[in-house]
Amino acid sequence: MEIIVKDTVDEASAIVAEILLRQVEEKPDCALGLPTGATPLGVYARLIEDFRNGCGCYNRAHAFNLDEYLGIPGTDTASYAFYMRENLFRHIDFMQRNIHIPDGSAADASAEATRYETQIAARGGIDLMFLGLGRNAHIGFNEPGSPHDTRTRRVALTASTMEANARYFAPGSRQPTHAITMGIGTILESRRIVVLATGIEKASAVAASLAGPMTDAVPGSALARHAHTTIVLDRDAAHELDRILALEIDA
Ligand code: F6R
Repeated sequence: MEIIVKDTVDEASAIVAEILLRQVEEKPDCALGLPTGATPLGVYARLIEDFRNGCGCYNRAHAFNLDEYLGIPGTDTASYAFYMRENLFRHIDFMQRNIHIPDGSAADASAEATRYETQIAARGGIDLMFLGLGRNAHIGFNEPGSPHDTRTRRVALTASTMEANARYFAPGSRQPTHAITMGIGTILESRRIVVLATGIEKASAVAASLAGPMTDAVPGSALARHAHTTIVLDRDAAHELDRILALEIDA
């Protein structure tokens, strides 16, 4: 596992954007796994800026979103489909037909999860999976307690995740309690994984994931099972990592 620590969120985001860009350059028809949330915003902003400057071509690439809320349509401003459209897809040249996001309004969530897994497999799996990390060390919406071999499925969100994400819902609107997420097993089958975690509120999740025991109680600890994972942190997120003796600081 490679760990890169940068001084600022901006520098950390630039590293991840560079890894994504290199992936589409090396394999234009690659499959990218993509997260939502606050963490990737700087990365997506850079990819958009690079694209406007002539760098990056996504018209043969496929995007597979990590997760989606259940019970809201993709037109809802709180949906991850909306987020992806606004923060990335509409600014670059992804083909609509190559954008894959679980359907949060599917009547049968289990059938939708199975369909999504089949779609990933039909593309030959994910080449590069970009992940954020939850404050409780979740990856995707695989909450603590998720076995490391889980597949894409319907999950219940924990109270802490709902609280962390409440800011994205308008006051008085109904916040979903469930989601469809790629499983940890699905994520681990990606050929390469890059994780971005920034901010002091991620420091204990980072330490538990990278320096603690491998356990279902810490979904991020599953990352150590993967042979080609790059973790990119800013100094705040790396704060509690001093316990890792071999931490390579590339600042
Ligand atoms: C988002 C996702 C989540 C987030 C995590 C961190 O698609 O799957 O695992 O990556 O909750 O969220 P932020 O970046 O908002 O702190």
